[in-house]
Amino acid sequence: MSGLRAEDEFMAEADTGLIFLGPPGAGKGTQAKILSAYLGVPQISTGDILRSAVREQTPMGLRAKSYMDSGALVPDEVVVGIVEERLSEADCSPGFILDGFPRTVPQAEALSEMLNRKGRAIQAVVSITVNEDELLARIGGRRACQNCGKVYHIQNEPPRKEGVCDLCNGPLYQRDDDKEETMRRRLEEYGKKTAPLIDYYSRQRLLVEVAGIGSIEDIQQNIRKALTR
Ligand code: AP5
Repeated sequence: MSGLRAEDEFMAEADTGLIFLGPPGAGKGTQAKILSAYLGVPQISTGDILRSAVREQTPMGLRAKSYMDSGALVPDEVVVGIVEERLSEADCSPGFILDGFPRTVPQAEALSEMLNRKGRAIQAVVSITVNEDELLARIGGRRACQNCGKVYHIQNEPPRKEGVCDLCNGPLYQRDDDKEETMRRRLEEYGKKTAPLIDYYSRQRLLVEVAGIGSIEDIQQNIRKALTR
């Protein structure tokens, strides 16, 4: 990433544990992916894991599908199980970035308990703030590659060729839950069930707030600067 002075850069500590928190469309996935490549620790997106289970029609995917299609949250015990299993994989030993988990206070409590058991902890929770009009515009214009999952936006981050992934030439599609009605339900769910985590982590002095408006590169720089403080 250009333009960062050495003293502004956030270096991974041994066993880095970060959470990306924010409403649908805030840019959690976009920013977590860039930071994950920079720090060399995996990005764990519960949304991506669930979507892949739905595609493969696993028992978990079949159970999650109706919740996701309606814009509701998948039950806590399902996602807590996914994260516990994923965190025990070898690539998570130097650290991890959780994207879209936890999303409820019970999930946050379960995470804290599972990390305690392993002698690990969260270092910071990056909360990305974006106003609702911008969220709706971002979700409405999002497209993703059916093959490799790369995320685009028809105006903000368009592919070189319409409907085709720059990386693998795969076809781009719109997520079912990005349709107007479902996205409003997702925003409501966020307000009711996930927004209370802002206070929860603020009380634990782990919260780092970053404005999510501006270029993707500038926001990434601001995240790294905020994490050095
Ligand atoms: P999930 O996939 O996690 O969806 P989400 O949280 O709603 O988040 P999004 O993926 O919509 O947005 P994002 O913040 O990652 O934004 P992005 O970077 O893509 O979850 C989907 C469903 O799975 C849930 O509804 C639920 O059913 C279930 N689920 C998942 N986790 C769960 C959990 N823990 N508990 C229970 N259920 C769970 O960016 C959005 C768009 O904006 C893109 O097009 C991007 O190109 C563009 N963009 C990004 N940054 C910028 C920028 N700075 N300027 C302009 N455009 C930008």
